[in-house]
Amino acid sequence: MLDIVIFGGVGDLALRKLLPSLYYLFSDGKREQCRLLCVSRSPLERDAFLKKIKEKLEQFVGTDFSEESWRNFKSILSYMDIDLSGQDGWEKLVDFINLKDNKCKRDIIYYLSVTPSLFAPICRQLGRKELNPDCSRVVVEKPLGEDYESAREINDILASCFNECQIYRIDHYLGKEAVQNILHLRFSNHLIETVWNNQHIDHVEITVSEQVGVESRAQFLDRIGTLRDMVQNHLMQLLTYITMETPKSLSADDIRDRKIEVIKALQPITVRNVAERTVRAQYTAGEIDGIKVPGYLEELEPVRDKVNGKGETFVALKVNIDNGRWRGVPFILKTGKRMARRFAEIRVKFNPPSNDLYDTRDGNQMVIEIQPALTVSIQMLMKQLMGADAAVKSHANRMQIATDDEHFKRVPEAYERLIGEVIKGNQTYFVRDDEIMASWKWIDRIRNAWEETEQEMKTYAAGTDGPDFEE
Ligand code: BG6
Repeated sequence: MLDIVIFGGVGDLALRKLLPSLYYLFSDGKREQCRLLCVSRSPLERDAFLKKIKEKLEQFVGTDFSEESWRNFKSILSYMDIDLSGQDGWEKLVDFINLKDNKCKRDIIYYLSVTPSLFAPICRQLGRKELNPDCSRVVVEKPLGEDYESAREINDILASCFNECQIYRIDHYLGKEAVQNILHLRFSNHLIETVWNNQHIDHVEITVSEQVGVESRAQFLDRIGTLRDMVQNHLMQLLTYITMETPKSLSADDIRDRKIEVIKALQPITVRNVAERTVRAQYTAGEIDGIKVPGYLEELEPVRDKVNGKGETFVALKVNIDNGRWRGVPFILKTGKRMARRFAEIRVKFNPPSNDLYDTRDGNQMVIEIQPALTVSIQMLMKQLMGADAAVKSHANRMQIATDDEHFKRVPEAYERLIGEVIKGNQTYFVRDDEIMASWKWIDRIRNAWEETEQEMKTYAAGTDGPDFEE
């Protein structure tokens, strides 16, 4: 038995991601014990509410939409208007949840799909009305703060109403199939386990390259910049997954303990080394897939009076981890908007062999593709088949060891997986409070160093791979 309450239940995220995910999870008619309540400020008749949800589902689940599944899904749906920042309407929620004698008869999941400024008033009301028993969980997602201090405030607000074991902080990268696969790959293969260290790895590149620009989020993205929008969370998660020590077990806390060790071992980037360790940049006008796109500053024009045009749309960092396994191995983190291609990958480059018998410039590599494909490939050098110098020339072969189409008809979206894990009560793929705080601390130092040294904001033409960064 389960109640899911989405605050901000008809907002953009809910309509685009959460409800489609819940539709996949609950439209088979087997979960009639679940109730799904969308909460928002404005009154909305049931028919109008259902019409809106149906339209959006048709748009976002496409050919997977069916009238039969919709009939099942709508039977668990309801809507309620509550003044989220005030007092009105909360009694209706108390009646809905109906916690007799504070006894947990059902699990309750509160999804705060609202701006962080509403976290405090919502948590206050849930606490006051005693709607936060042990069987309740709360789900929140980024932006979880804009720096160390604001992240601490958010953590404090959540902690005032829920225990850490009830809090699920979403980083949607942890819901991606290829990211979850990293742990399997690393810890279930002896072949990989034995070479995963500075004895064998030369360097690692973690890249998240996007084609989208800032679009309707210009104001937010200009204030926050790509370092905070992408690196503090998504790239940091990829980095910890690829570098953590072997956890004692697969329990959520054993894994998260290992991740935080990595964040704490990151060498600080400060005024001393920021110039050689980082690049920040903004895109100028260019062309992507044959279509002309405006530059960043032009895209900001409609909101020019509300922004200062100083947000970076591209970041590259050279990161070192100060521990026995990784000392001396550079990790190149790169992410940008309006780049040539949309892809995310982790590329692990191995050391050359200890002899120089063959030409091994291309070297052994392992590439974990996160999107759009979900492949893992290993590059090995082999004898070239033909040709005059075939005896001494090696040829780089890529052996693909996993593909996206072998096992799945449909790869569930990150949100669907993550909501499924919240329902199971498994915190493995969610970010713990201390992890968030440690990563903000490290990120804040980079921002401060940029500010203090007035580091140059480079430019790159949209549709390219971004500015050069010496690796
Ligand atoms: C979000 C960022 O967290 O991740 C966006 O706020 C970014 O700016 C998005 O576009 C990228 O996610 P994905 O899954 O498309 O790589």
